[in-house]
Amino acid sequence: MDNTFRWGIIGPGKIAQQFAQDIARLDNARISAVASRSAERAEAFARQYGAPHAYGSYEELLGCPELDAVYIATPHSHHYTYTMMCLNAGVPVLCEKAFALNSQQAQEMVDTARQKGVFLMEALWTRFLPTTLKILELIQSDAIGRVQSVKADFGFKAPFDPQSRLFNADLAGGALLDIGLYPVFLAYLMLGRPDQLHAAARIGSTGVDEEIGMLLQYEDGNGQTARMAHLHATLRAHTKTEAFLYGEKGTIHWHTRWHEPSNFSVIGEDGRPHNHYFEWQGNGYSYEAQEVMRCIAAGKTESDIWPLDRSLGLMQILDRVRAEIGLQYPGEQ
Ligand SMILES: NC(=O)c1ccc[n+]([C@@H]2O[C@H](COP(=O)([O-])OP(=O)(O)OC[C@H]3O[C@@H](n4cnc5c(N)ncnc54)[C@H](OP(=O)(O)O)[C@@H]3O)[C@@H](O)[C@H]2O)c1
Repeated sequence: MDNTFRWGIIGPGKIAQQFAQDIARLDNARISAVASRSAERAEAFARQYGAPHAYGSYEELLGCPELDAVYIATPHSHHYTYTMMCLNAGVPVLCEKAFALNSQQAQEMVDTARQKGVFLMEALWTRFLPTTLKILELIQSDAIGRVQSVKADFGFKAPFDPQSRLFNADLAGGALLDIGLYPVFLAYLMLGRPDQLHAAARIGSTGVDEEIGMLLQYEDGNGQTARMAHLHATLRAHTKTEAFLYGEKGTIHWHTRWHEPSNFSVIGEDGRPHNHYFEWQGNGYSYEAQEVMRCIAAGKTESDIWPLDRSLGLMQILDRVRAEIGLQYPGEQ
């Protein structure tokens, strides 16, 4: 029997290309079906990856006879709609970040997956990278003591196009949901849910945040600030895109660009860096894909590594940040 895992893709854009390249490198998976709003685009993508099924609408994909899970790679504005469409049809989903527009949508997605017993996971690829796993292991083994502050940035200079998904409010554009999510994720992973949160943004001509700064505070039992996160994201400048985890007895310096396959150093109290290097194959998306495949093969409906409650928790922090900067997307109340 052929046990090759059969992926379907909804929204064959830039990230779907990278994901499909990584699936093509796996010997236990393949792209089986592609759905686009255009039959020509679906056929071209399917040809490129040897996928036997191509559909000129997303809805038609649900009729595919060879499908084990769907990867949703549309702009964030459409994650909810197509995730719900698949879950309601009983089809497992890996949905790109940001998981949804807001936590209300995310909650509905999670509730539906749980009620129907269908697998769902946010494609928060950084969580599954060997660097992240190693850093968590080091922190658990007390390599730098208790983490007391997190500093992380993510910035690149995006060509200004008001219609593009990065700047268009109808497509949930802006720095926060696209790239600011990564520093927020790191703070959440290391320090949990913040007690206080402050944010300021530069809102551009299309009404979305082009640059955002965030300060997150975590209290000890006495209501005093005990730990902090300093986070920055921008679509208007190339920034170093590094992360620092400052512990009580050392630092982890996650080198640029920290959110993707990268290297890091552990700097102890003697100030000397101990460097960790990793060998990479591909773009880094095979780790999340393999987690989905492992979970589904084991009959699980969510991942233990990045469970749905964590996706919800992250989305709730993003909602709080948006409330601070007064950013609402069209159709939100
Ligand atoms: N994990 C990562 O490293 C990473 C990196 C980049 C992006 N992403 C995430 O992946 C998602 C897609 O990003 P991308 O850069 O691949 O975007 P993209 O190149 O613009 O592709 C998105 C695709 O979605 C489809 N789509 C459906 N409705 C659309 C609409 N109303 N407007 C535009 N496109 C629409 C389009 O395909 P058809 O028209 O052919 O159906 C389009 O090609 C975003 O949520 C983003 O946050 C993740």
